[in-house]
Amino acid sequence: MRGIILSGGSATRLRPCTKVTSKQLLPIYNRPMIYYPLNTLLKAGIKEILIIVAPERAGDYLNLLGSGKEFGAKFTYEIQDKPKGLAEAFIIGENFIDQENVTMILGDNIFEDDLSKEIKSFKGGGKIFAKEVPDPERFGIVEFDKNRKAISIEEKPVKPKSNYCVTGLYIYDNRVIKVAKDLKPSDRLEYEITDINKWYLEHGELEVAMVKGEWIDAGTFDSLLRAQNFAKEKMQGKMII
Ligand code: TTP
Repeated sequence: MRGIILSGGSATRLRPCTKVTSKQLLPIYNRPMIYYPLNTLLKAGIKEILIIVAPERAGDYLNLLGSGKEFGAKFTYEIQDKPKGLAEAFIIGENFIDQENVTMILGDNIFEDDLSKEIKSFKGGGKIFAKEVPDPERFGIVEFDKNRKAISIEEKPVKPKSNYCVTGLYIYDNRVIKVAKDLKPSDRLEYEITDINKWYLEHGELEVAMVKGEWIDAGTFDSLLRAQNFAKEKMQGKMII
């Protein structure tokens, strides 16, 4: 299993704090934000990790994280020239992923759960993690039937069919590279991870697990503040880095 941390983007919602630095380098209590998703991957035993960054911040990431040796891992870096969508990670990461399966996590997502078992037991297809949220129109939303089987996924729906959003950790088999390469950009001109999830869903190969503990996407000032407090109160004992 290879790991990718997608840590580019423009972080417009956190301006002016992100004018001269990257969102994922901002502190979440006593650690840079990216330590939390990195912790999730390292805990699951993933040792080969690709960190995808925006061009103007690449040096900062290299200074902070280095080769990975300090973390008992090997880090590779790639630049995403423009934030063209989450699914582009699998195109940028093609050589790095090679013939392996891949777990991708967003650089601004904090998971309380230890997802090691879910990652280690992955056999094939696609696996995503859902969480009930109060504001479903902001996310990719998954609809379930009576047996908790996923039946539809929509990106930022105006009329959401459920309150279950797709969180920022995704596990796919090697076919994801080809699926990503075949994608067309969406109306907002991004390569959508929702379209990758739809592909696996349509092929009957998408597993949707539930996130049990807290999950925070730290991309707004309010969620950033929530993440700070949560990290202080609940995450300290869960960090291995
Ligand atoms: P978003 O929070 O959707 O986007 P953003 O970080 O650019 O912020 P804003 O909406 O405030 O402008 O991105 C989620 C995560 O994915 C975040 O960690 C940044 C990352 N990302 C990329 O690395 N490349 C991309 O092309 C996109 C869209 C996001």
